[in-house]
Amino acid sequence: MSTETTVKGSMGVPMKRKEDPRFIQGKGNYVDDLSFPGMLYMAIVRSPYPHAEIVNIDISEALLVPGVKAVITGKDLEAAGLGWLPTFHGYDKQMVLAIGKVLFQYQEVAAVFAESRGAAADGAEAVQVEYNPLPVVADPFTSKTDAVLLRPDRESKTNHIYHWEVGDRDKTTQALAASDTVVKQRMWFPRCHPAPLEPCGCVAQFDAMGRLHFHVTSQAPHVYRTAISIVTGIPEDKIHVISPDIGGGFGNKVPVYPGYVCAIVGALKIGRPVKWIESRTENLTSTGFARDYHMDVEIGATKDGTVTALKVSTLADHGAFDAAADPTKYPAGMFGIVTGSYTFPVAHAEVDAYFTNKAPGGVAYRCSFRVTEASYAIERGMDMLADELGLDPVELRKKNFVKKEQFPYPSALGFTYDSGDYHHTLEVALEKIGYKDLLEEQARKRAKGELMGIGFSTFTEVVGAGPSKHFDILGIKMFDSAEIRIHPTGSGIVRAGTKSQGQGHETTWAQIVAEELGLDPQNILVEEGDTDTAPYGLGTYASRSTPTAGAAIAMAARRIRERARKIAAHLLEVGEGDVEWKDYRFQVKGVPSKTVTMKEVAFAAYTNMGQNEPGLEATQYYDPPNMTFPHGTYIAVVDVDRETGEVKVRRFLAVDDCGTIINPMIVEGQVHGGLTEGFAIAFMQEIQYDKDGNNLNTNFTDYLVPTSLESPHWETAHTVTPSPHHPIGAKGVGESPNVGSPAAFVNAVIDALSPLGVRHIDMPITRDKVWRAIRDADAKKG
Ligand code: CDP
Repeated sequence: MSTETTVKGSMGVPMKRKEDPRFIQGKGNYVDDLSFPGMLYMAIVRSPYPHAEIVNIDISEALLVPGVKAVITGKDLEAAGLGWLPTFHGYDKQMVLAIGKVLFQYQEVAAVFAESRGAAADGAEAVQVEYNPLPVVADPFTSKTDAVLLRPDRESKTNHIYHWEVGDRDKTTQALAASDTVVKQRMWFPRCHPAPLEPCGCVAQFDAMGRLHFHVTSQAPHVYRTAISIVTGIPEDKIHVISPDIGGGFGNKVPVYPGYVCAIVGALKIGRPVKWIESRTENLTSTGFARDYHMDVEIGATKDGTVTALKVSTLADHGAFDAAADPTKYPAGMFGIVTGSYTFPVAHAEVDAYFTNKAPGGVAYRCSFRVTEASYAIERGMDMLADELGLDPVELRKKNFVKKEQFPYPSALGFTYDSGDYHHTLEVALEKIGYKDLLEEQARKRAKGELMGIGFSTFTEVVGAGPSKHFDILGIKMFDSAEIRIHPTGSGIVRAGTKSQGQGHETTWAQIVAEELGLDPQNILVEEGDTDTAPYGLGTYASRSTPTAGAAIAMAARRIRERARKIAAHLLEVGEGDVEWKDYRFQVKGVPSKTVTMKEVAFAAYTNMGQNEPGLEATQYYDPPNMTFPHGTYIAVVDVDRETGEVKVRRFLAVDDCGTIINPMIVEGQVHGGLTEGFAIAFMQEIQYDKDGNNLNTNFTDYLVPTSLESPHWETAHTVTPSPHHPIGAKGVGESPNVGSPAAFVNAVIDALSPLGVRHIDMPITRDKVWRAIRDADAKKG
């Protein structure tokens, strides 16, 4: 294993991709651009109440609206055996349309089908629903008391959904009791929303043979096909799922939503294609939210700052149905990564989840299933410990980092980290940001009463689910796949079970094939998202594509190379053992002048293959032996205005290590996007509910999305510690910036406020909260 600091694509193939129109995202092949003869539009009637009995639904007025063709309700679906959807990990089920009562504001109550979008909306307005409001449970702490039972439909008569724990509770308790110092803090990672620019949508169309063609904004098309078959009973061969271009997913487009089931039912019932495109408000109020973890964090340490134990107890708010998109055996996802980059000898983490009258979800928003919450907890906790012990947060981290020679490192909570060099990445970051100078500047400013903060996050991630022995969704094991076909003239096509939503697989998958086979990446077409053509895969989320499908593509290409070697031997008129692959071509060992290119071999595979099997194709299913563990050091520098509480992020440096980099431009784009989201979460975003369960952030006026004006300038760099088990040494990167950055921002603000005695502020760190913290601190001092 080697580490190096240069920013380079580790693949040797040149990357002239920008000008190729095939690789420009957003050409306009989106679900909403689709139109079919006779297509109807669907609108959904939603509940204004967070918790209420449905006394009556009157659809008669709606059916009189010109253009309205049909209306369906929960009762209709129930009668057809389609009243409930299984949730992804199988612990719960979710109403498709409300049956008997509603459990959150904006819940789906009825679906209206009409000739135009306008008519569908008018029809939805005309549906009369009589509600009888019920007491509302708007937070998990109230839910915990079971004073109001939210889900009497369930066998267990409690609002408690599950208890999950990992680690050694007793040893951790003992170690904390024996520690010289223990820091404790309740931290809330607020409910936020992935808010992709394109909301969810679909077109359901049955052809003359009764086959369903389902165009949908799905991050996991194959899983959708299987789920639709399970829910509707339509045989899987009669279902064709197509995910066209998608305008961002971020985990929001992993679950199967009620609207999709209604569109399919409508298309079947009326015999015409049905389009449903949700509005921004529908997206923000009813589709998968993220986070909402209340975490009690305790870290024990010796006087000199060596960590001794970590305990994290979490209350999770899952809303009305447990629709969290987590692997079956991991209801709290990969929260076990909460020991982070540090050598905790013992640790214990537990999560208890509760129902509330809020929208269901808990999706992996640019996050490998709860890694963001875990990373925030440990990185805030380490800063608190440094503060408590009067140590520099950098020195504390260095003292406790897993060392390079300790990899593969078995963590106290059961993961085996594949590789890393945390000290090196931190040193690169310190050098780049000029830490010494910043500390001197801070000291000068503090002497003048000015508030300047430097915040660190030195996170470790866990991405790339499978392995299948641990991870499945609805029982389907988590692996991925690739199929490569090389055509006679040396161009080709690669298909994978993943689905890009803007991550640039069109470029990087072609690069992997080109690198392995010595072909021109411009002539490798990448196709994903069509279940009729792509091999079965579990889709794209949780930065799993490169660790899984990326590996499958490299391995499929290597299979092709082995087949090609035989044909090369035939062309070079030597034995197969005398042929080597060197400098992107086949060469007779020791005779550099006798070579044949892959392009020549490809032609021969169809025209002159000798005794060898014709054609040049391979399919590879890849079940990873382990996850990959990217890491990084992020540093935020902020100035806080003492009078107004305004925080200005003056600098932000992200040094990421995602192993071998396939395409530095794409990785940089991923990091910029994720940092902007992390910045928004830290400072401006929260899906808030009032005590009566009303959602207060239903549009982009109330749920803020940063523009280039608010976003800081991002500085980026990389170190490269390849994954030892991935065929090309690559680890995932897409979510690292969202996972790693919130703690750096918050740590910087708290560092700025620390001279005033401020210890913690929950996100989002709004100007108002900072101003109040300064005012309260001043009041305390008198
Ligand atoms: O699963 P998802 O595509 O969201 O995440 P990813 O596997 O981290 O990949 C995001 C993009 O960055 C893809 O185009 C990857 O191929 C690219 N990437 C890269 O160029 N080098 C890496 N080491 C990791 C990802």
